Amino acid sequence: MNADGRMRLGVFVQAAGHHVAGWRHPDAIPGGPDLSLMRHIAVTAERGKFDMFFLADNFATGYAEHPSSIGKFEPITLLSVLSAHTTHLGLAATASTTYSEPYHVARAFASLDHLSGGRAAWNVVTSSYPKNGRVFGREHPSHADRYAIASEFVEACLQLWDSWDDDAFVMDKARGTFVRPGSLHAPDFHGEHFTVTGGLNLPRCPQGHPVIIQAGSSAPGQALAARTAEVVFTAQNDIDEARAFYRALKGQLAPHGRGEDTLKIMPGFMPIIGRDEAEARALFAELNRTLDMKQANTVLSDRLGTDMSGHDLDGPVPDLPESDHLKSRAKLLLDTARREGLTLRDLCYRVAAARGHMMVIGSATQVADAMERWFREGAADGFNLMPPFFPGQFDAFVDQVVPILQQRGLVRREYEGTTLRDNLGLARPANRHAGRMDSAAE
Ligand SMILES: Cc1cc2nc3c(=O)[nH]c(=O)nc-3n(C[C@H](O)[C@H](O)[C@H](O)COP(=O)(O)O)c2cc1C
Repeated sequence: MNADGRMRLGVFVQAAGHHVAGWRHPDAIPGGPDLSLMRHIAVTAERGKFDMFFLADNFATGYAEHPSSIGKFEPITLLSVLSAHTTHLGLAATASTTYSEPYHVARAFASLDHLSGGRAAWNVVTSSYPKNGRVFGREHPSHADRYAIASEFVEACLQLWDSWDDDAFVMDKARGTFVRPGSLHAPDFHGEHFTVTGGLNLPRCPQGHPVIIQAGSSAPGQALAARTAEVVFTAQNDIDEARAFYRALKGQLAPHGRGEDTLKIMPGFMPIIGRDEAEARALFAELNRTLDMKQANTVLSDRLGTDMSGHDLDGPVPDLPESDHLKSRAKLLLDTARREGLTLRDLCYRVAAARGHMMVIGSATQVADAMERWFREGAADGFNLMPPFFPGQFDAFVDQVVPILQQRGLVRREYEGTTLRDNLGLARPANRHAGRMDSAAE
């Protein structure tokens, strides 16, 4: 729970919805690269005083993928447009540390931070799926290597973002001084995977640097988060396990000199909202009726890192080798299947809906009750909302659930500040070179 007693809210935007069959619902706009839908979601999120609008990203695709991973905009391009249609909403996107260069990522997110007046956030991912390597003609590194690369990548970006003192760009016409002498501190980064020895060609960000999010929950994922992340996205579907994860991760902050409030843990959360529980359950049944089981099985196979197409759907979920792809996610799904005695078909339905994230099916009050419980009982600092389809179910959340949370004092009625850091309650990081008189790196 945050020091101010308020939960943080993000909306995880996938144009075709989070439920694999969501796009087919009569109240859904089917998705694809649809700017008016994206603008509607961003403006609605800001009306609901959300902290963040988040876009995930992956690369290689096929036919039977989750529809939301096929037809979509490149995230930073879209967020740049949305920055002009919003004033307070945080703008978060994934960028891969396995298939990018630190300079490109540091520059793109710094640019977004400037464009938006301090609202950018980077979701650091290692791109779990081996098929991603195909579009780059590269071998997909192992889980351990991906995290070693990620660790260097983030450090290189942090150094790039500190290239300039905060007051470097004086742009003094009378004296003819554009940047103050001695204000450039070009990185001198020599890692095993990256070398960066030149400065970023942008002033320091309004937020110091963009907010850093981390979305891997394995041991190396948690270690990276404890060192560098300010927000953690995670998939949890059991309050006891979510609480254990929360405690374990917060417990890793102190050795890095960090207080618990410097890291916000925001599990994914799919609400299926009806006027009452019966209506919500009918909606969920309707979504499942239109589900293509082959597609659901592909999404499940991707998550488990094993092709499940040859297995009996009505049999128990078999024992599988540990995945090297989405380690914590594969484990979460297998643990859930064992705990609840699910068949493979049941697990397909679960994955097709929320991919293993927490789900609540009920009225607006039931949804608010579940969120309040997770928040108050130390399982979450906030939630990353995953509506089954857009815009209908997201509008329902903002119009029906947010007012209940506001009435209970659990979410804000007005934004506290103009930057994402202000609203998340995160300090603006000082430049590591601040107060140092040397400008030797110049
Ligand atoms: C909310 C959320 C969003 C994620 N977004 C992405 C993404 O955009 N691209 C990606 O490759 N992985 C994404 N992931 C997956 C994680 O980066 C990570 O691979 C996965 O959680 C398994 O992590 P682990 O191997 O550390 O267990 C996301 C995970 C979560 C919980």
